[in-house]
Amino acid sequence: MRILIIGNGAREHIITERLSEDSSVLSIMSKKNPAIAKISEDYYICDITNTSEVKAWASGKNIDLAFVSPDPVLAVGMSDALEELGIPVASPSKDVADIECNKEFARSLMQDHLIPGLAEYRLITNEKEALSAIKEFNNSVAIKPIGLTGGKGVKISGDHFTNVNEGMSYVKELLLKDKKLLIEEKLKGEEFTLQAFSDGNSLVFMPPVQDHKRAFENDEGENTGGMGSYSTGKILPFMNESDLEKAKIIMKKTIDALKKERSPFKGVLYGQFMLTKDGPKIIEYNARFGDPEAMNVLSLLQTSLTDIFLGISEGKLPNAVFSSNSTVVKYLVPNGYPSKPIKDSPVSINLPCLSSKGTNMYYASVYEKDNQIFTTSSRAFALISSSKLLKDAEIKVENSMNCISGPLWHRKDIGTENLIDKRIKHMDKLRGEKK
Ligand code: AMP
Ligand code: GLY
Repeated sequence: MRILIIGNGAREHIITERLSEDSSVLSIMSKKNPAIAKISEDYYICDITNTSEVKAWASGKNIDLAFVSPDPVLAVGMSDALEELGIPVASPSKDVADIECNKEFARSLMQDHLIPGLAEYRLITNEKEALSAIKEFNNSVAIKPIGLTGGKGVKISGDHFTNVNEGMSYVKELLLKDKKLLIEEKLKGEEFTLQAFSDGNSLVFMPPVQDHKRAFENDEGENTGGMGSYSTGKILPFMNESDLEKAKIIMKKTIDALKKERSPFKGVLYGQFMLTKDGPKIIEYNARFGDPEAMNVLSLLQTSLTDIFLGISEGKLPNAVFSSNSTVVKYLVPNGYPSKPIKDSPVSINLPCLSSKGTNMYYASVYEKDNQIFTTSSRAFALISSSKLLKDAEIKVENSMNCISGPLWHRKDIGTENLIDKRIKHMDKLRGEKK
């Protein structure tokens, strides 16, 4: 098989690595990811959201299958554009990628099809509606742009603003820019990610993962793309089996609704949930793998990713087998990240050190010049270790962080017993309050 992959982060690095086990990979990137370039039989650097440029390069390359990975590329209809060339795709068409790209659509779909797990929300088109929604939700709200914002557009009361005036100034900014926005009840609980392969009819679920969006230890500071994540390969330590089952039902009902209203969802469906005392509620849907979550699950995948992608494109999804190990991912980010990242700093990677510690490393946003790797303003490297026990995977990855040197830092608390304990106690407390 000759498979085209579009994208150039750590998420795409692991996808490329897994596909290359039994396929030839061709890649299109916006910036050269040195590792993806090395694995690829051929690669091309361009504006990956430019459908004409991508089509011009891809045509005539005898590509058997394509996978479009990042959301801004799905949002421009790249899957549809490649299908026009006769290339089968394992990623969603524009109309169903709207489940991520248009938050108003996602919510009205869930509402119209009576899908459980929908938080209370209001669609806002003027300041008066915003004020009354904030009042209705007792000043405890999430203010959300309708479209894509790279995970950084949501502002939560108590976390990002402290009073109605501050909230309203964000509302005004969004009204000016987009003419509408969403105000949602602020959900209390523990967040988790559930990803599934979808051929449009059935879903094959991957193990749940917990991401850490906040920049600093103890979940403080700004939201980031994700500082790291863990998975036990089974349910997460603060969940019950029934929580996971409910989340699966919500996602299955969602692809059924998409098929009825628009078209079959082919690709990876990502449910971002808040586990509340009343069960799982949807915070967001994504039409792609999560980053870093892709690394947790794809490291455990024992079925050929090529076969799964082929099954997605043909509407005949095979089962996927995952090992039940625990995994911990930690991102190394440039000093000053996220508010004032220092870019263009040289970093050195000690590969023998990483392999002696049993840790894998994936290149995120770095570049290569004169045989030297440099940082950009985004996350630089993702390190991942796996082990039977979560605490061993965490220790292993933490002990490997110094195999990469340069002006970089990471969150030390991700996957630690201390933080996991806090999560379990938090959930127990919320559930206790219910009784
Ligand atoms: P998003 O950009 O939609 O992924 O949201 C970013 C982060 O905002 C999420 O990871 C949550 O931590 C938080 N968030 C979003 N919606 C809500 C909500 N309704 N209640 C509480 N927190 C939320
Ligand atoms: N880790 C969050 C995301 O990929 O959107």
